[in-house]
Amino acid sequence: MKHLFPKLGSVSLNILFVIFAMSMANIALAEDEEITDPIAHGEKAHNTYCVKCHTDAVYTRENHFVRSMDALNKQVERCKNMNNVPWFPEDTDAVVQFLNKKYYRF
Ligand code: HEC
Repeated sequence: MKHLFPKLGSVSLNILFVIFAMSMANIALAEDEEITDPIAHGEKAHNTYCVKCHTDAVYTRENHFVRSMDALNKQVERCKNMNNVPWFPEDTDAVVQFLNKKYYRF
């Protein structure tokens, strides 16, 4: 390692490795959670990224415009893309499931 990166001391390389290992562990945890409980995963993802412009009141207001599962999928995708939200398709799908279960009930 020292020969390959002469400017980085072995201490900082070790720290980098630990950070890298920790972030890999986090990714693995996120995937586990997603597989076992998409609703909880969707709720968490939603609450992290989706309450900046509107609250959940838009889903239940009298004249809400999402009227089908298809429309819900499209609107979540649209709002996600508008905001550069870093979700994988599984995350988007989990949020759709969460919104449908809690609010829309199609
Ligand atoms: C940049 C601001 C912004 C963010 C952040 C945002 N939205 Fe939206 N969203 C809007 C606007 C604007 C509307 C349309 C509201 C209106 O017509 O009054 C809307 C409407 C919606 C609707 C339709 C509500 C209805 O009438 O049935 C859904 C569903 C929705 N957003 C989901 C999401 C989700 C999921 C996220 C997180 C990825 C998100 N939004 C984040 C701006 C945003």
